[in-house]
Amino acid sequence: MDHTTGTGTPILEATGVSMVFGGLTALRDVSFALHEGEVIGLIGPNGAGKTTLFNCLTGLYAPTSGTVALRGEPLPQDPARVTEAGIARTFQNIRLFPSMTASENVLVGRHVRMRQGPLSSLLHGPRFRRSEAEAAERTEKLLAFVGLTRFSDELARNLPYGDQRRLEIARALATEPSVLLLDEPTAGMNAQETEATRQLIFAIRDLGVSVVVIEHDTKFIFTLCDRVLVLVQGEMLVEGTPDEVRGDPRVVEAYLGAPPEEVEAQIHGSER
Ligand SMILES: Nc1ncnc2c1ncn2[C@@H]1O[C@H](COP(=O)(O)OP(=O)(O)OP(=O)(O)O)[C@@H](O)[C@H]1O
Ligand SMILES: [Mg+2]
Repeated sequence: MDHTTGTGTPILEATGVSMVFGGLTALRDVSFALHEGEVIGLIGPNGAGKTTLFNCLTGLYAPTSGTVALRGEPLPQDPARVTEAGIARTFQNIRLFPSMTASENVLVGRHVRMRQGPLSSLLHGPRFRRSEAEAAERTEKLLAFVGLTRFSDELARNLPYGDQRRLEIARALATEPSVLLLDEPTAGMNAQETEATRQLIFAIRDLGVSVVVIEHDTKFIFTLCDRVLVLVQGEMLVEGTPDEVRGDPRVVEAYLGAPPEEVEAQIHGSER
């Protein structure tokens, strides 16, 4: 079954990736391809291996077996070089520098940028040259892009939780990635912040960045993504469009679970 919407060489491709920690198989023979301009959702229960897959896609872990390719080339086994090659990520547990300002956090992301990516038109004028003033200007543009201009000089630790997540996205974008991996970007957000994040991800996609999003909020994933991958106990259970995945009985059983009243009836019997 091929649900691929893109054409040509995938921008990012995992083939038969397995990751074993001691006796625990966190990923088993996982394959998927991300094409240019796509937004892919990655869902699955706690411990399914979602973050482990991101770690394998960013050079943090070397898969026990299988391969990861970026534009057909083997992924460097070094997170800094992966960033330079155009893959950026955010973390499930926010990893900002709490005692640095919002703009300083974004500047830290900037220094790894080595080449022109999809974001260069947003960030650079036609005659781009490196200077501190320009770096500051690009930082402000990124903060504006994620809606955090008012917090530019605020310490990261003082930002509301949802805004810290957006700051992490700005910092990731500062590396000018072709691929952005977001690990639970709406965790802890209210409905309004979640909607703003959805719009932000669409805007990032519109700049030409391909995106993979891990999220437990399936409504968010189904209304955001072109394709959805379902990982269960380290294995890719289902892959398809949001409609296909939503209606798949294996997903309902393994991930979404039976309706609460049904579970209740199973546990307590029908005589209640
Ligand atoms: N560095 C590690 N060493 C040992 N085991 C690990 C390591 N990283 C992850 N695991 C294990 O691998 C499995 C998958 O974990 P992972 O964090 O990838 O799941 P996840 O799908 O991201 O879950 P969650 O939704 O809770 O974030 C878990 O059983 C976890 O305990
Ligand atoms: Mg995780």
